[in-house]
Amino acid sequence: MSKLDITIAGEINLDLILYGLPEQMPVERELLASQFSMTLGSSSAIVAHNLAALGSRVGFVTKVGDDPLGKIALDRLVAGGVDLSCVVRAEGAASGVTVILPHERGRHILTYLGTISELRFEDLDLEYLSSARHFHLSSLFLQRALAPRVHDLFREMKSAGLTTSLDTNDDPDDRWGGALDATLPFVDVLLPNEREAMKMARASDLETAVTRLSERMQTVVVKMGSRGAIAVQGKKQFSAPAAKVQIVDPVGAGDSFDAGFLHKFVQGSDLPDCLAYGNLCGAFSTTASGGTEAFRNRDAMQAFLAQTNQDAGFRI
Ligand SMILES: Nc1ncnc2c1ncn2[C@@H]1O[C@H](COP(=O)(O)OP(=O)(O)O)[C@@H](O)[C@H]1O
Ligand SMILES: [Mg+2]
Repeated sequence: MSKLDITIAGEINLDLILYGLPEQMPVERELLASQFSMTLGSSSAIVAHNLAALGSRVGFVTKVGDDPLGKIALDRLVAGGVDLSCVVRAEGAASGVTVILPHERGRHILTYLGTISELRFEDLDLEYLSSARHFHLSSLFLQRALAPRVHDLFREMKSAGLTTSLDTNDDPDDRWGGALDATLPFVDVLLPNEREAMKMARASDLETAVTRLSERMQTVVVKMGSRGAIAVQGKKQFSAPAAKVQIVDPVGAGDSFDAGFLHKFVQGSDLPDCLAYGNLCGAFSTTASGGTEAFRNRDAMQAFLAQTNQDAGFRI
């Protein structure tokens, strides 16, 4: 039996979240936030952290600066039980950071990329990555140094016998091509949100998008915020409603969904169970600040999952 269930290659950074700032932010004024949270962010690291919290054995490979922000971010993964034996520390380099300003309507998201975009194919220990049963990659379009060879990475994982998944997240350049087209043939499970699914399929409605994507991929899972999620596998389509929760913020809900879905997927659960568990984890993430805070309290996590599961009549 392999030591790890899932390996993930990707980015790591802290999220600095300032709540309660005004919608309009004039320059040269001291604008006061009502609350502040510094938490482990970045799609890849959130998926890794929350998968480990759920009980999967996770190995995470990333490049991080040798600065205090990078250290705090890695410490959170260590505390979460993620294996970091193949992490690359870039001497003298600055780690990335994201500042999030949630407003009444929408949020400002400000990112300094730093090492977020500096992980290269040559930095990866392929033997380590392929020692798990499943490989996952998030934030494809932020992996600028890795992008030209992401398809090679996925091809290696497939030929080593792993199942694979991809959550591209947004494309800041809004091109939705290049590395994506080259990589999709080696992806078993694609995990976009609604908007991303339509963008990558170049479709103006979700149904067309899902039809197009499912012709190219074994399993397409689309996250739909408070409307839950759907999954399509060939001619079979499943949907699962979102859980009802008191929301603090939606940061990392999609990544937490991925963690829940993949935790069940690697156990060989059927698609409806994977979807339902993804929805539970996505909803749970929204009950605390950022994408990982909720999952740091294991007792609260177990209690939420058991209770919400029961209330919704799920059988997982
Ligand atoms: N308001 C909400 N109430 C309950 N669950 C939610 C809510 N928002 C998100 N979720 C859960 O998190 C998942 C991912 O959220 P979504 O916003 O669709 O993805 P992303 O964060 O990638 O944009 C949803 O499919 C759902 O399961
Ligand atoms: Mg997302």
